[in-house]
Amino acid sequence: MTDAVILAGGLGTRLRPLTENIPKPLVKLAGIPLIRRIVDSIPGDIERVFVAAGYRADKLSDYFKNDRDAGERDVRVVPEENALGTAGALWNLRNELGDEFVVFNGDVVSSLDVSSAISFHRSMNATATISAWEVDDTEAYGVLRIDAEDRITGFVEKPKKEEAVSRLINAGTYVMNRHVFDFMNGSSFSLEREVFPALCSDRIFGYRFHGHWIDCGSLGAYLQAQSTVMISERRGIQKGARLEGCLIERPVSIERGARVRGARIGPNVYVEAGSAVDEGSRLDNCVVMEGAKVGCGCSVSGSIIGPDCTLPDNAVSHNQILVK
Ligand code: GTP
Repeated sequence: MTDAVILAGGLGTRLRPLTENIPKPLVKLAGIPLIRRIVDSIPGDIERVFVAAGYRADKLSDYFKNDRDAGERDVRVVPEENALGTAGALWNLRNELGDEFVVFNGDVVSSLDVSSAISFHRSMNATATISAWEVDDTEAYGVLRIDAEDRITGFVEKPKKEEAVSRLINAGTYVMNRHVFDFMNGSSFSLEREVFPALCSDRIFGYRFHGHWIDCGSLGAYLQAQSTVMISERRGIQKGARLEGCLIERPVSIERGARVRGARIGPNVYVEAGSAVDEGSRLDNCVVMEGAKVGCGCSVSGSIIGPDCTLPDNAVSHNQILVK
């Protein structure tokens, strides 16, 4: 039996102040919380999901307590008293987990087919398999040194383009066997920096996939993910959205119960339910979250307007995260 673990205990500092009140996994992306998107990507035959929570664990517990979409699945939120790091969070669950488990970073949106990654892991008889995504520019990432059989032989942190040993990076989803615990102890903190490099002496593989992959942890990446998701999910104007006299450049999605009047809106704008945008405002590359109000003549670009936040008339928000 395979289990799933979602790493959801980080502070989410790069999305502050939005994450001062809610943990990053509960931030909605195109109307759906990031953690819901991950739970929904877990194959149906995985029955047990552990949410390794820390920062604002109470909010995650409440979310899953009231979760009507969980179905038969057993989702358990396991709070950590102190930040244990990605390795410590897994070590903390060692007595709960079965022989094989899939580990998800709580802020990644991707088209990875988890069942195929599990089949690959088994066929390679691997101890750990890291999902691997190809990038053009390696300088911001840890790069995988990988051989012709997809075996990982090392990791290189943030290499210059010309010095990169490959263009494959760690995409933040892993399939593992219990044997990984032989490479950790109670003081292990980071999977990426401590455990994976140690596993190069054992059997650690990279599983390449195509489609899309975005780590939503920063404002820019979050907005890029929103655009990708709106296009791939064909999101548009929902029935029951009140739209009057607007100029629209797609992708734009407006939820039922939102009101947008006389505005220029798009591309890449998501307006959540219960929010309103008034005349003469110009919005692109942004999200207006639940209950937020954008007054008349505002200019909003590259921004997150948080839940219940009010922008007065003629306000300007460029590349900002604003909260109530
Ligand atoms: P930043 O503070 O903005 O870097 O965000 P973050 O705290 O989420 O860190 P990062 O994006 O590097 O974390 C990757 C994933 O690991 C996220 O899903 C985090 O929630 C999770 N994570 C990071 N640290 C911990 C931890 O100490 N415990 C648990 N359970 N999860 C963690």
